[in-house]
Amino acid sequence: MKPKVLITHNLLPEALSFLEEHVDFEIGTSETYLPKTELIAKLRDKEGLLPLLTAPIDKEIMDSAPNLKIIANCAVGYDNIDIDYAREKGIIVTNTPGVLTETTADLTWALILAVARRIPEAEQFLRARHYKGWELDLFLGKEITGKCLGIIGMGRIGKAVALRARGFDMNVVYTDTKKLSQEDQEKYRAACVPLDELLATADIVTIHTTLNPQTYHLLSREKLGLMNKDAILINVARGPIVDEKALVEALKTKQIWAAGLDVYEREPEIEEGLLSLDNVVLLPHIGSASYETRLKMATKAAKNLIQGLSGQRPDNLVV
Ligand code: GLV
Repeated sequence: MKPKVLITHNLLPEALSFLEEHVDFEIGTSETYLPKTELIAKLRDKEGLLPLLTAPIDKEIMDSAPNLKIIANCAVGYDNIDIDYAREKGIIVTNTPGVLTETTADLTWALILAVARRIPEAEQFLRARHYKGWELDLFLGKEITGKCLGIIGMGRIGKAVALRARGFDMNVVYTDTKKLSQEDQEKYRAACVPLDELLATADIVTIHTTLNPQTYHLLSREKLGLMNKDAILINVARGPIVDEKALVEALKTKQIWAAGLDVYEREPEIEEGLLSLDNVVLLPHIGSASYETRLKMATKAAKNLIQGLSGQRPDNLVV
């Protein structure tokens, strides 16, 4: 008999066909969010769980599923799961690193360029039929070439963002809990600096760190206050790393020039103040959203799940 598995949301068809060969699965919901009570009811008799990052998996959920062996998250981030409790209960947790690195770095650059050159604002202006002809000072933005890029979190995605900065001849500084080797610092042409120095010197600050208790509100009101008034802030990592209310204030008072966000503190809720500002570009958490990459993520999560259920060590073990 195939092991019983709950997939919180529908996956792409190719990933479902792959899963079908190995497990007996149920799909939790066709909606964006699966209510916790429903998740608990559907998980009760399951050995495996494959959640999206929109499904918080806490103690109560884990305790309600006596047969649960593995949680195979379909995301590289796993802040939606109580990892410590899973470890305590001996439940395996896996994620999907590697396959979304380049796609997320591309989106980071799309946001940097969109913000610096005011692309969404300019497009809306044209669609509203306000364009009357070329003007010397129409939608003046910020230059990128030759500027300083500050990367917070120099993991896989941070490094991929740094490599792309070469095309813009940028000076790259980064901050991370681990310093790169000399060889890697040369490869990525990046210098390690303390966070405060990065914030005070970078023209573009981009966040690529994981969300954990140490990085919650890392970009606090005080830290945002260190950025210069022509600077741009980009966040494609996790919303709670930035104090969103403080960011609204900094953007409103032009304490910083602009921001580009793909993630929010209380997704899918968007801080009201952000929606009325011209100097912020807002995306709906699409960092890894190419068909190829999302299929690779779903397939990787499925493979980790099958490996864990068959007693093998999954490729992407978190705990
Ligand atoms: C997306 O945000 C992910 O963590 O994969």
